[in-house]
Amino acid sequence: MSTTDLQAYRGSLLHFLADPAFSDNAHVWHDDGLLIVADGKVEAAGDYAALHATLAPGVTVHDYRGKLLMPGFIDTHIHYPQTDMIASPSEGLLPWLETYTFPVERGFDDPAHAAGVAEFFLDELLRCGTTTAMVYCSVHPQSVDAFFTASQARGLRMVAGKVLMDRNCPEFLRDTAEGGARDTEALIGRWHNRGRSQYAITPRFAPTSTHEQLQLAGELARAYPDTYIQTHVSENAAECAWVRQLFPQSRSYIDVYDRYGMLRPRAMYGHCIWLDDTDRQRMADTGAAAAICPTSNLFLGSGLFDFERADQARMLVSLATDVGGGTSFSMLQTMNEAYKVARLKGSHLPALRMFYLATLGAARAMQLEGTIGNFVPGAEADFIVVDPHATPLLARRARSIASLEEQLFALALLGDDRAIAATYSGGRQVYART
Ligand code: GUN
Ligand code: ZN
Repeated sequence: MSTTDLQAYRGSLLHFLADPAFSDNAHVWHDDGLLIVADGKVEAAGDYAALHATLAPGVTVHDYRGKLLMPGFIDTHIHYPQTDMIASPSEGLLPWLETYTFPVERGFDDPAHAAGVAEFFLDELLRCGTTTAMVYCSVHPQSVDAFFTASQARGLRMVAGKVLMDRNCPEFLRDTAEGGARDTEALIGRWHNRGRSQYAITPRFAPTSTHEQLQLAGELARAYPDTYIQTHVSENAAECAWVRQLFPQSRSYIDVYDRYGMLRPRAMYGHCIWLDDTDRQRMADTGAAAAICPTSNLFLGSGLFDFERADQARMLVSLATDVGGGTSFSMLQTMNEAYKVARLKGSHLPALRMFYLATLGAARAMQLEGTIGNFVPGAEADFIVVDPHATPLLARRARSIASLEEQLFALALLGDDRAIAATYSGGRQVYART
């Protein structure tokens, strides 16, 4: 006899069925809502008044009235080995990599160190309400084993991969084209689609891979079409100049990856600041997606993402922290800075759009719509409880709020980890604010 584990959660309910930039009525809102979870999946989401009568007697209703229930945030670009060097001062991307990033990544050849950092990193994501992330590990395969071991123990849906890097980096972090590909293939076999783990083929960025390494990465991407690809592109002016020098035959930076067959669905490109319209169109046409990293891009002085041009091309876009270049694990703080980046480009990013980008927008960019990112029946029950009165200032601001847009906007601009009251993954509570 099978017994179903049924749980119900009452609160204000928000999720998305479409992109608010392109559709009216893209969001679903129930002021007094109910989320019903059966065996870790969404059974139903709707009005409390309509749904609670359908509940079998004896089902516990967790009372989150006064708080918002929404899908867990999805961070589409983050480096777990960089946890311990977040907020390191430097004069831009390339010196920052040399001075802080490469030395700190060296330590991940030690599985015990990698495991310890992975635990802290996952705690921090969950404290901030992030339930899925696309994660760069270090060049060491054991850093991937440590990461997925930790994320599987918590039942989290995570995408991660071993960095490929066979030139222009310290000897102690260098793999080889063949060795990197062999390790990647073994890791795909060990982790991809095991439980909720999925693998990302991860060339760090074009300057640190030889032609042979990019060629082999492209071949793996073709051989395993449902794996992810993740890398950096067009982040910083000095980096772009370096790429022009290293790959003179390519029309543009994104074209370097295109020539190796790495523009495809499930390819996630970090930053995408210095693209031109041909690049944007090519990304849109191939289903490759952008991970927009505003806290990192402001911190490192890399530049301002152009939301309007990305939307004109209908590129898939998502938001990301890029920790340790990023300065916060919080997707709310990431929205705060995304909003200001858009302002500096002369456009306005509504709060509803930002919450879409951090949930369903990211799921779409990752080809995971229906699995995570919203509350359609059958979706995995990864959700968060957001407290709109979490701080004295948020509570005071809430007194004069007149619309959902204003409420979400205040949360995005003033909120951070303190606004996350609880985090659930696969229907299980994995964090509760004390
Ligand atoms: N480009 C290549 N590696 C990195 C990295 O670790 N962080 C950022 N922000 N950009 C990169
Ligand atoms: Zn990055």
